[in-house]
Amino acid sequence: MNALVHYQVDPVVRTKLDFKLEDVPRFWFAGDPFRTRMFDALSVTFPDGERYFIECVRLFRDKITDPDLQQRVADFIRQEAQHGIAHDKMNQVMKQQGMPVEQFITFLNKVFKLELKKRSPQYNIAMTAAAEHLTALMAETFYSKRETLAEAHPYVRALLAWHSIEEMEHRDVAFDVMKQVGEVPESTRKFALAFTTIMMFNFTMYRANIMLKYDGFSRLDRVKMIAKGLPWFIGKKGIFNAMRGQYLDWYKPNFHPSQHPIIRQYDVWVKTMAETNDPILAGDAFWKAGL
Ligand SMILES: [Fe+2]
Ligand SMILES: [Fe+2]
Repeated sequence: MNALVHYQVDPVVRTKLDFKLEDVPRFWFAGDPFRTRMFDALSVTFPDGERYFIECVRLFRDKITDPDLQQRVADFIRQEAQHGIAHDKMNQVMKQQGMPVEQFITFLNKVFKLELKKRSPQYNIAMTAAAEHLTALMAETFYSKRETLAEAHPYVRALLAWHSIEEMEHRDVAFDVMKQVGEVPESTRKFALAFTTIMMFNFTMYRANIMLKYDGFSRLDRVKMIAKGLPWFIGKKGIFNAMRGQYLDWYKPNFHPSQHPIIRQYDVWVKTMAETNDPILAGDAFWKAGL
């Protein structure tokens, strides 16, 4: 990380992208139920989570006077809305497979509504900025090495590629709102990342376990699957562990998201999309360009 260099790309709003998710098989990640359902569980969080982020940023919109930030907030809102639409489609496919998606979403909505009603705007914008820190690391986590998603279905891989690059594009928007007009205490900012990480992890594990139950796996099967599959995510050589340094940068007093480089193959996605207008081909080229 070089604190003197600022890595930034402007958010671009891209709409009506089709990832043909209805053609994706049930266990789309290497035929591995646990790995698939962990990603599926994450997808369940996105639409309502992203609508919550939009609400949180809107709480401060009137206070923003900087025209550049106003524009980036508008683009942030539109990008997150598109992510919600795309992940809703993925969640519909899970629903057709018999997964209790509605039950998960009803619960999530209650949590987010309660947060907005009971907690301060400062707390909510800090939670949003912290969650955006996590999603900003998605591209590096999933696409820096080709082998990470080598066995994922290309359509879901393409959905996650598009979502990842847009998260990278707007990674500093909620952060700048928090810093410029949020008046958020440092203690709240720091607490928010730890808390949102624990919440995300617990929700994801809980939902993955329930979905595997609905897939017909016994309790013993699931315990074995989790014990075998979890190290791929959070073990010593796990995909999340590789991002520990960038994750912890949040706790540095002068941290800003633009201190982290943009993923090296970002331009590959943009160029392929411009040439083909096909987000699946763009996602494929982006994944292939990993190390
Ligand atoms: Fe998003
Ligand atoms: Fe985001």
